[in-house]
Amino acid sequence: MKKYGFLGLGIMGQPMAANLLKAGFNVTVWNRTANKCDALIKKGALYQKTPAQVVASSDITFAMVSDPVAAKELCFDKQGVLEGLRQGKGYIDVSTVDPQTSIEISNAIVEKGGRYLEAPVSGSKKPAEDGTLVFLCAGDNSLYEEAIPAFEFMGKKSFYLGETGFGARMKLVINMMSDKCIHVNIRISGSVQGVGFRYAALRAARRTGIKGYIRNLPDGDVFIEAEGERAQLDAFVSWCHEGPPYAKVEIVKVNESGWKGFTDFDIRS
Ligand SMILES: NC(=O)c1ccc[n+]([C@@H]2O[C@H](COP(=O)([O-])OP(=O)(O)OC[C@H]3O[C@@H](n4cnc5c(N)ncnc54)[C@H](OP(=O)(O)O)[C@@H]3O)[C@@H](O)[C@H]2O)c1
Repeated sequence: MKKYGFLGLGIMGQPMAANLLKAGFNVTVWNRTANKCDALIKKGALYQKTPAQVVASSDITFAMVSDPVAAKELCFDKQGVLEGLRQGKGYIDVSTVDPQTSIEISNAIVEKGGRYLEAPVSGSKKPAEDGTLVFLCAGDNSLYEEAIPAFEFMGKKSFYLGETGFGARMKLVINMMSDKCIHVNIRISGSVQGVGFRYAALRAARRTGIKGYIRNLPDGDVFIEAEGERAQLDAFVSWCHEGPPYAKVEIVKVNESGWKGFTDFDIRS
């Protein structure tokens, strides 16, 4: 059976490694703060004291650490990943880093005879727990093919995007897009709706910069259909919640789940 290593057991790494264990894989873990390994050891994980030892005892090692600085320290520091590398071993960095960092790490791994894949994830804590992440992979294609069984238990989809750096770029694009083009429908009903509210809402919409329309419905409610960036809509929705003091503000429909503004809200309650 293939042996997996997992370095970095934070919010994301912890449930991802747990899913590998749940799938019945052999998993060796390490975390800078060692006691974060305890829960996984109880679930059957093996433990090593250094990243180098994890890499040396695994066929494929995943890393999920905070940022580019952490990714480089993990790799280049004493007793780090590079020290444990042998010919043919696989190293998959699933952290979010910039393309230049990924290429630097890739070059060092390949120089030592190892294989490197970047595989930043789209998704957050819940998808990591549910095994529904999306992996944006680039780098060594043979390593990608070999790791597919692991990706399948940690995620719902993995893409192979080509040479090292392309996965990191795709992750940046997705991050940028997820902050834009959110669409929300809002219905305001209650005792202060109507033309006055409509003008106030229009002024608020102009101030926050959202685009869309606001109209009075035949039943007296005010209906707003708007589109904008997350921060703009956040600001507009809180205005709606705070603006009409005795009205019921209902977010009717949204096109993205998980945004904190998208909850039904009744100011009178
Ligand atoms: N959280 C999300 O929703 C989300 C979604 C998509 C992608 N990501 C990406 O996933 C990565 C991990 O995020 P996270 O939310 O799991 O972060 P986190 O909970 O803060 O965990 C960070 C992990 O990195 C380790 N670490 C930090 N600096 C280190 C260093 N110098 N050497 C070795 N290990 C180090 C931490 O170790 P200690 O325990 O010792 O501090 C911890 O295990 C990030 O690149 C993030 O951008 C996160």
